[in-house]
Amino acid sequence: MSKKIILAIDGPAGSGKSTVAKIISEKLGFLYLDTGAMYRAITYYAIENQIVDDVNKIKEAVKKIKIDLNFESGVTRVILNNKDVTDKIRTPEVNSKVSEVSVIPEVRKELVRMQKEIGLTNNLVTEGRDTTTVVFPDADVKIFLTASIDERAKRRYKEFLERAEKISLEDTKKNLEKRDNIDSNRVISPLQKADDAIEIDTTNLSIDEEVNLILEKISEKLNISHCN
Ligand code: DC
Repeated sequence: MSKKIILAIDGPAGSGKSTVAKIISEKLGFLYLDTGAMYRAITYYAIENQIVDDVNKIKEAVKKIKIDLNFESGVTRVILNNKDVTDKIRTPEVNSKVSEVSVIPEVRKELVRMQKEIGLTNNLVTEGRDTTTVVFPDADVKIFLTASIDERAKRRYKEFLERAEKISLEDTKKNLEKRDNIDSNRVISPLQKADDAIEIDTTNLSIDEEVNLILEKISEKLNISHCN
C-alpha cells in the first residue's frame, strides 16, 4: 500500500478551517476528516447522558462509545452508537462543553488512534487542534489559519443565525474567548502552530481567496494541481 497524502489544517475556533478543508478536499478528491466532529460527538453523548460534569464517567464511557464517520458527497455524517448525530453536535450547548471534554487524556487517546488509522488508508484533508502536531506530525502540507477574534465571532454568529440558534454576538465572542483560552493552555495537545506550518491570516480574505491561496501553497509544496 502506498503512503497516503495528508494535508492538515489547524487554527483557532472560527478561523475558517472546516469551510476551506471541505472545499479543498472536494477539489482534490481527498477524504475530509473533521476531527472536531469526533470530540463533539463524545460531548453530545455526555450531555445527553448527564455525565458531562463527571470526568470519571466520561472516561468509562469513551471505552464503550462507537463513533463511525460516513463520508458522503462532501459531508461527514457522524454516527454515534448507530445513531446519526450530525445535526446535533453543533449547538451552543455542545460548543460550551466540548473544550472541557476534549482535555480528558483518555478521550484524546482514543480519538487520535482512530484518526491515525483513517490516515493509513486514505488521502486526507484533515483539520483540528492537534492534527499538525500530534495526529499527523509528518503531514505532507501543514496550514495554520488565524483571524482576529472579532472576525471569528462574526463568522460563528452567522452560522448560528443560519441555524436559528438563539445566542447574541457578544455571547458568541465570549464563548470563543473561553474556548481559545482552554484550547491554548491545556497540557495535552494545546492549540499551537507547528514549526513547519504555513501561517495564513484570513481576517480580510473571502472564502474563495482563502481556498485559492491554500491551493497555491499545496501545489508549491507537492507539485500537484486541483481538478476543478
Ligand atoms: O473544530 P471544532 O470547533 O469543531 O472543534 C470542537 C472542539 O473540539 C474544540 O474546541 C477543541 C476540540 N478539538 C480538539 O481538542 N482536537 C481536535 N483535533 C479537534 C477539536
